[in-house]
Amino acid sequence: MKPLHESLPADPLAALGEWLDEAWEQRVVPNANSMVLTTVSMQKGEILPSSRVVLCKHYDRGNGYLVFYTNYHSRKGLELEQQRNAAAVFHWDAMGRQARVEGIVLRSPAEESDKYFASRPRGSQLSAWASEQSDPIASREALVAQLAAVEERFPGEVPRPPHWGGYRLWITALELWTEGEFRLHDRGRWIRTVAIDDDGVAHPDAWNVSRLQP
Ligand SMILES: Cc1cc2nc3c(=O)[nH]c(=O)nc-3n(C[C@H](O)[C@H](O)[C@H](O)COP(=O)(O)O)c2cc1C
Repeated sequence: MKPLHESLPADPLAALGEWLDEAWEQRVVPNANSMVLTTVSMQKGEILPSSRVVLCKHYDRGNGYLVFYTNYHSRKGLELEQQRNAAAVFHWDAMGRQARVEGIVLRSPAEESDKYFASRPRGSQLSAWASEQSDPIASREALVAQLAAVEERFPGEVPRPPHWGGYRLWITALELWTEGEFRLHDRGRWIRTVAIDDDGVAHPDAWNVSRLQP
């Protein structure tokens, strides 16, 4: 197992990029770009976390944000609109690696979501229209009927649904973890501030790094 460098880099973004690339290229699991995303909601004065798997479809290693796509009206979407702080974790068991991310989630620019949506197979495009993700439905047949209605509505090109698109998770904290012998794991944690201005533009600050005990 390759340990973290003796001296941790001042900026961890390239290292995360290498980990993502290696996991993808070595196909360590079928969806090497999957991450567990945790969002929170407030109910009766209590903070309630919820987690699910999403695919990281892009990583901007210059700026340090991860992009995933979803339905903005889904449970995660609604939670993110209320509380934009979220956490995510990648686990590549075969590589003895874990990457933990905390950050601020902002919607991707519409043009970027349009471009990605246009690149998807027609079936996936239709599903995005047919599914009111996270809402209950009476039966599987009802869902299939919703899909049939959408197929009829869009015989040609399928536009992106306004309630479907990308989110950018701007990393404010990153932990790179490598498995060590006898649980003497290696852990580096980097934190930075990301200010969001009134126009919703992110301004990341410099990183602070520390080594954590396993
Ligand atoms: C491997 C895998 C990849 C997934 N990728 C996505 C994804 O990229 N976007 C998405 O909305 N849901 C994805 N899902 C489904 C989510 O885990 C989840 O069921 C769905 O988004 C509804 O979550 P919510 O009700 O908490 O919003 C994926 C599930 C798995 C198992």
